[in-house]
Amino acid sequence: MIVGRPLISVDEVTSTMDLAVRLATTGATSGTTVLAGHQTAGRGRAGRRWETVPRSSILMSFVAHTQRPHNVLGALSLLLGLAVAETVDDFTGEIATIKWPNDLLILGRKIAGILVVSKTSPADRSLVLICGIGLNVNTEASALPETGTSISLASGVPCGVGDVLPTLLDILTTTMNRFEQGDTDELWRRVEARLAFRGEMVSVQDGPRTHRGTLQGVSSTGLLELELSSGEEVTLAAGDLTRGPVAVP
Ligand code: BTN
Repeated sequence: MIVGRPLISVDEVTSTMDLAVRLATTGATSGTTVLAGHQTAGRGRAGRRWETVPRSSILMSFVAHTQRPHNVLGALSLLLGLAVAETVDDFTGEIATIKWPNDLLILGRKIAGILVVSKTSPADRSLVLICGIGLNVNTEASALPETGTSISLASGVPCGVGDVLPTLLDILTTTMNRFEQGDTDELWRRVEARLAFRGEMVSVQDGPRTHRGTLQGVSSTGLLELELSSGEEVTLAAGDLTRGPVAVP
């Protein structure tokens, strides 16, 4: 597949996810990508909103028909994070880190988020993925929360969506083809090398439950590995990760 082929560019849409889901379930081929200048109802993970200043960000969703088993899909979000991280590095000269399960950080601030949803293709009941990426490109600090940043802010150089998009689509294409072939060991090592907060105390809020412990790593299926203060090791499939509390010596 070639991510971005075909590329459907729209000025405004509710969410690129909505349009891409519609296309994916009505015969769109792998690689079909929706790119929007603005979303009126952009979505983040766990039902949150994803709001951006028009034309300040890459807002895209692409279709990927897959033969991969359902249990590797958690890892896909992190592999896509790696593709975005390597793109961000190219344009900022910094090293982006991957915050489980789906955030990209640069200098500790969020620069991008990933959202992957799966559907069943009505034609043959096979699995089809819709992969959404929101990447802040030329967003100004006044339009971002304290914890957010953009490529222009991190690099100090003005940069547009059109400058970044070709690199991102190229890296995503390589990532998706390797994912589909099950050839991800080397990509996975690169994910691990960029994992934010490894060895640090973190808290993970998963619905009503809070898990606190030391972040050990991620499994090859994308589960977060935590060592609790009791010494027990747990793996988590979902949750909101924050740094801390700081361990008291
Ligand atoms: C997150 O960090 O919670 C995930 C954010 C994903 C945002 C992107 S923007 C393009 C695509 N369309 C959406 O409505 N969401 C994703």
